[in-house]
Amino acid sequence: MTAGTATTSSVSLAVRDVHLAFGANRVLRGVDLDVARGATACVIGPSGSGKSTLLRTVNRLIEPDAGDVLLDGRSVLRDDPDALRQRVGMVFQQFNLFPHMTVLRNITLALRRLKKLPEDEAVALARTQLALVGLAAKADSRPAHLSGGQQQRVAIARALALQPQVMLFDEATSALDPELVKGVLGVMAELSAGGMTMVVVTHEMGFARSVADTVAFMDHGVVLEAGAPAAVFETPAHPRLRRFLSQVL
Ligand SMILES: Nc1ncnc2c1ncn2[C@@H]1O[C@H](COP(=O)(O)OP(=O)(O)OP(=O)(O)O)[C@@H](O)[C@H]1O
Ligand SMILES: [Mg+2]
Repeated sequence: MTAGTATTSSVSLAVRDVHLAFGANRVLRGVDLDVARGATACVIGPSGSGKSTLLRTVNRLIEPDAGDVLLDGRSVLRDDPDALRQRVGMVFQQFNLFPHMTVLRNITLALRRLKKLPEDEAVALARTQLALVGLAAKADSRPAHLSGGQQQRVAIARALALQPQVMLFDEATSALDPELVKGVLGVMAELSAGGMTMVVVTHEMGFARSVADTVAFMDHGVVLEAGAPAAVFETPAHPRLRRFLSQVL
């Protein structure tokens, strides 16, 4: 099973001093994050630190108050948001599949609406992508007849079918039963190895340690510490990170 068609088209991602407030609640207070082309950054940190909000500013589900997000050095804030969301795929904790549609239709829908592909091309691409996440046999099933892990792999296939240059994962395995987590993390690891540029918000420290090129620790709306997994996990500099790791490891 291999999730990633190797992406020669992946891009570098840079988050530059991004600020965002919800009313008086300053959720992002100057976030910086660099992800090299084809690299995977894992974002860890306590609940409420702004991890999901950060991801949402990258594909402009929320507009930052200040700062910039750059893909290959070019600001996403000047892009058309719909075009941007084809370039930047996102997978959520809740899979957000349409329950009344087959697995295949869940994938072809965006291909037809956003990419304007004809039906036969959309179906062919969707079947290819399903095969890559190991679910070729489930094309005609409804999401409710799949396990949570299978549903999440469908959600990943759906995002990948749009041939994004960056993939964002927001706690993609947190809603899954423990025995289903491994299959989804395996797909994500293969995607990472295949050269996709990825930002992965996760509580799976084993995944972060083994797959990430960079681990970024967020606390109170800033990246407090970032570096190679070995450095962040073995020799954390910041006391707040040391405390966090002592709680989760
Ligand atoms: N749409 C919104 N409107 C108002 N406040 C929001 C909104 N989204 C998030 N917040 C607030 O922003 C802060 C950061 O939330 P965020 O979801 O980014 O945290 P998180 O690090 O992803 O936490 P978790 O680990 O629990 O998912 C929280 O205080 C949250 O209540
Ligand atoms: Mg979150």
